[in-house]
Amino acid sequence: MSRLIVVSNRTPGKGPAAGGLAVALRKTLAEREGFWFGWSGKLVDAPSTEARFEDIDGLSVAQIDLTRSDHHAYYAGFSNSILWPSFHLRLDLATIEGHWYEGYRAVNQQFARALLPLLKPDDIIWVHDYHLIPLASELRNLGARNRIGFYLHIPFPTTDALYAIPHHNELMRDLSRYDLVGMQANRDVSAFTEFADHQSPSSISGNPLKSVDFTRSETGAFPIGSDPDAFAKMAVSPAATKMIRRVERVLPDQRLILGVDRLDYSKGLPQRVEAYEKLLSNDAHFRRSVHMMQIAPPSRDSIKEYQETSDALDAICGRVMGRFAEPDWSPLTYVKRAYGQPSLAGLYRLARVGLVTPLRDGMNLVAHEFVASQDPENPGVLILSRFAGAAEIFDDAILVNPFDTDETAEALRMALDMPLKERIARWETLMAAAHKHSVDNWSHSFLERLTPSDERLSSATRD
Ligand code: F6P
Repeated sequence: MSRLIVVSNRTPGKGPAAGGLAVALRKTLAEREGFWFGWSGKLVDAPSTEARFEDIDGLSVAQIDLTRSDHHAYYAGFSNSILWPSFHLRLDLATIEGHWYEGYRAVNQQFARALLPLLKPDDIIWVHDYHLIPLASELRNLGARNRIGFYLHIPFPTTDALYAIPHHNELMRDLSRYDLVGMQANRDVSAFTEFADHQSPSSISGNPLKSVDFTRSETGAFPIGSDPDAFAKMAVSPAATKMIRRVERVLPDQRLILGVDRLDYSKGLPQRVEAYEKLLSNDAHFRRSVHMMQIAPPSRDSIKEYQETSDALDAICGRVMGRFAEPDWSPLTYVKRAYGQPSLAGLYRLARVGLVTPLRDGMNLVAHEFVASQDPENPGVLILSRFAGAAEIFDDAILVNPFDTDETAEALRMALDMPLKERIARWETLMAAAHKHSVDNWSHSFLERLTPSDERLSSATRD
C-alpha cells in the first residue's frame, strides 16, 4: 500500500482547536505508513527550509516554522479574514486586503519546498482545508507527479461570494490541479459545480484567461463524521461521570440545554442565546426548571470580528442573566474555555437538548458527538441548524433556521416537552446515521477514490 502524507495547517497536539481534524486523521495514519506535515506553531525570524520530524504519541509528524509576517498574512489575513468569512457567506465581516495573498502564496510555496524532498513517487498526499488550496499547484510546479487530494472542511461558497475573493480565479485553477476534491455536503458540490459551469469556456465568450479547466479533478461529497463508538464509551468513562456529578450537584432537577462551539461568528451564538431568552420569556413555566450551558473556547482572537462576537455574546448573556436570574436560580452558564473530550462527552450525555445552531457550517462534529454520547434509554434531543452540513445526514433532528429565533425558541419548547418514546425513536435513527457516516468510513471512502486504480485493483485481488 502506498504511504499516506497528510498535510494541514496545524499538526496534531498543537492546541485544543486542532482536536476534530486530529482525531479524525490520527486513526487513518496509524493504519498505514506515512506522516503528517504542517506548521510547527513556531514563529521565527527566518523561515525554515527543511522540516523537522517529531514523534507525537506514536505519530510521525514533520513540521516547519513560519515567519511572523508570513503567518499573519497567510493565517489571520487571507485565510481567516478573507476566505473564512467569504466561504461562510459573511462578506460583511470580510476584510479584503489583496496584499495578504502574497503571504498566503509564500507559505504554500514554503510548504511545497519543504515537503517535496520528503516524498516518494507513489506517496498519496491528502491536503486539508482552505489554508492550503494552492499546495498541489506549488508541488506540481516543482515536479511532483503524485496523486494529490484536497478536502475542504468548511462550506463551499456561492459563485457571487467567490467572486468577492481576490485572486479567486487563480485559487480555483489551483483547486483544479488536485486529482480529487472532497467536500462535506451535496450543497457544497452543487455550489462548486455551479461555479465550474460559469467558468466553462462557452459561458465566458472571448475571455479564455478566465476559464478554469476542472476536467482533471474529480469532485464529490464525503461527509466527515466522528467515532461514535469511542464517544459512546467515553460518555460513561470515569472522567465523564465525574463531570456529570459536578454539574448535577450545582444544577439539581434542571433540564440542561447545551451548546459547545469555538467562539466564532459562524456559530450563531448570540442568536442562540436570544432564542433561549424568548423561550424563558414566552413560557414562564420553564424558568427554574431548565438551564442553558454554552461552552465557547476563544478562537482566532487577534481578529477584530472575533473580538466583537465575543463582546456580543458577553452582552446578551449578561442581559439574560439580569432579566431572569434569581438569588437561588441562574438561567445560564457561559464558559469561555476548552474542555477535553471525556468531559464534553459527559456533558453531552447529561444534556436534555443539544443546541447546534451555526449560521453556516461545513459539517459540525458537535452534532455527531452529542448523538453518540446519549443514554439509549433516556436520550437527549438534537436541535440542528439547517445550514450545517450535518443537516443532510441528521434529518431526524429538529431542524431550524438559526436566524429565526422564534423558530429556535419553539424548537426548544418542543425538545423539552418531547415524550421519551419519541426521543428514543429519533435518537435511534440519528445514531444509525452517525455510524453510517463515521470518521473511519469518511477517510476510507476518500482514500479509496484517491488511490490509483491499479493499486485498488491489486489490493482487491489480494483480498
Ligand atoms: O474546521 C475548520 C478549521 O479551520 C480547521 O481546519 C481547524 O482545525 C479548526 O477550524 C480550528 O481553527 P484554527 O486552526 O484557526 O484554530
